Amino acid sequence: MATITRTPVGIIGAGPAGLFLAHLLHRQGIETVILESRSRAEVEGTIRAGVLEQWVVDLMNQMGLGERMMREGHFHSGITLRFNGESHHIDMAELTDGKRVTVYAQHEVIRDLVAARLEDGGEIVFGVSDVQLHGVESDQPSITFRRSPDGPVEELRCDFIAGCDGFHGPSRQTIPTAIRSEHQIVYPFGWLGILTSAPPSHPELIYAAHERGFALLSTRSPEVQRLYIQVDPKDDIANWSDARIWSELHTRLEDKSGWSLTEGPVFQKGIIAMRSFVCETMRHGRLFLAGDAAHIVPPTGAKGLNLAVADVLVLSRALTAFFKSNDGDGLAAYSAQCLRRIWKAERFSWYMTTMLHHNPNETSFEQRIHLADLDYVVHSRAAMTALAENYVGLPME
Ligand code: APR
Ligand code: PHB
Repeated sequence: MATITRTPVGIIGAGPAGLFLAHLLHRQGIETVILESRSRAEVEGTIRAGVLEQWVVDLMNQMGLGERMMREGHFHSGITLRFNGESHHIDMAELTDGKRVTVYAQHEVIRDLVAARLEDGGEIVFGVSDVQLHGVESDQPSITFRRSPDGPVEELRCDFIAGCDGFHGPSRQTIPTAIRSEHQIVYPFGWLGILTSAPPSHPELIYAAHERGFALLSTRSPEVQRLYIQVDPKDDIANWSDARIWSELHTRLEDKSGWSLTEGPVFQKGIIAMRSFVCETMRHGRLFLAGDAAHIVPPTGAKGLNLAVADVLVLSRALTAFFKSNDGDGLAAYSAQCLRRIWKAERFSWYMTTMLHHNPNETSFEQRIHLADLDYVVHSRAAMTALAENYVGLPME
């Protein structure tokens, strides 16, 4: 007989979606159990992007989780767009009534959230395997899993299941294909990202469109910088010596002003593929998808983590209304409410990606349209404001 435990909300996945949800619900007196397939060290060590919208920063502070972020994060009130060898500053704060973005790596957010959750007595089971969802169309869904690959099967009975298990997790597959529609673009390019021990070369992020491909300069700390170049997603990282990476970064990022990029030893490098993806619906019975389980954005718009937090904020409010007032309206509206904002973030991420990357499959006409778009955006206050308000994050309803 399997060990049976109960929790109001069973959460699959300890990424930003699962961890924020657990914290938000705990503050409403609703307990959760998180089941995570990776070890704590892996979850806390995976290098991902790291731009937080203003409202996410505010939320972390309101929840008492922002102390290290406020000390170690980097607050940026603008970005630089670079093309045709020229640089153009976009003053986000001035265009959006003072909103900024914060550069604080996703794994640092994860470390802070895991530590605080465990301190609060919250349950996160790391290293589980064989996770399966059952009865999501009933009032008593459950999750079966093993604590170790050869351990016994356990059952977690829930009132609701939150599928926060990323793009490859099992939750989305539980929604029958007859009621699930998926929409996607797989881009013919990827990003080669490096971490280097070097001081910051520039006070804000630089997004560069170049005929050899996109490049991005970002930061992590006064001693560590994060940089990316567009490459073929099927390329092998072994083909990229540090010297070759720096040569491309110099060519793509430097402008006519004489500014130059500071080099340092490279201590981490890898290639990621890029896609845009949305799953409709995000709810089936008592299963609610959130974050990368339901949607993916290419990283150019820096939206991935922010979208995951937006979903679970909506979900936590809906679950709170259900548990406290027996009001199911928020749960019924969850998918449609999230998708409205998600599609706008998908649009923005696609726009930034197509405008800034060199796509070898496009005609010369399409490539010139992107240059016209860039020229327009840096010279029209209206267009610049549209870019800025999307970049700092559209309002949460
Ligand atoms: N069982 C339990 N956990 C699982 C399973 C499974 N079968 N499959 C995946 N997971 C875990 C993963 O190990 C991961 O820790 O679910 C977690 C999902 O986390 P993320 O992929 O970080 O997704 P999410 O929380 O939605 O956050 C989205 O993360 O991928 C970035 O760029 C993305 O910034 C965005 C953010
Ligand atoms: C990062 O710092 O990793 C980063 C910054 C901006 C992006 C994407 C990634 O658009």
